[in-house]
Amino acid sequence: MNVLLGVGMLGTVSGFLGTFLAYLWPLRSGAATSDLLRGSAGEPLSLDALAINEGIVARNDLGKILIVRRPNDEFIGLQATCTHLGCTVAWNQDSEQVECPCHGARYNMIGEVLRGPAKLPLDRVEIIVDEAGLRGRPLS
Ligand code: FES
Repeated sequence: MNVLLGVGMLGTVSGFLGTFLAYLWPLRSGAATSDLLRGSAGEPLSLDALAINEGIVARNDLGKILIVRRPNDEFIGLQATCTHLGCTVAWNQDSEQVECPCHGARYNMIGEVLRGPAKLPLDRVEIIVDEAGLRGRPLS
């Protein structure tokens, strides 16, 4: 009986210890973070991917980012996850607003709420253009 209890206790302790060590261990050693924005096929997003006043949702380590190309090669970057319930927002060229297809929230081009049900703005993202493509970084 004592042997069974000992084996059971050892199994429980090793389970907790394994979970604790897995929590402390890096997810993927050497995994690099990247701010390079990628399209739906995983390709790096280039300057040519967007026409003037066009918007696209791309991804990087920040998550889904809505990028809108404005005249004079200015880029607007916003987190593309609606602050209401998390649907992916899209740019409407005609209204020049960011729209959520799920429950109709609207944001202006700097992410402020124009119409609910969303109550919080979309976080802004700095868009940088370099030889590798478009990059998105938290706005500092
Ligand atoms: S998830 Fe966007 S309005 Fe509800």
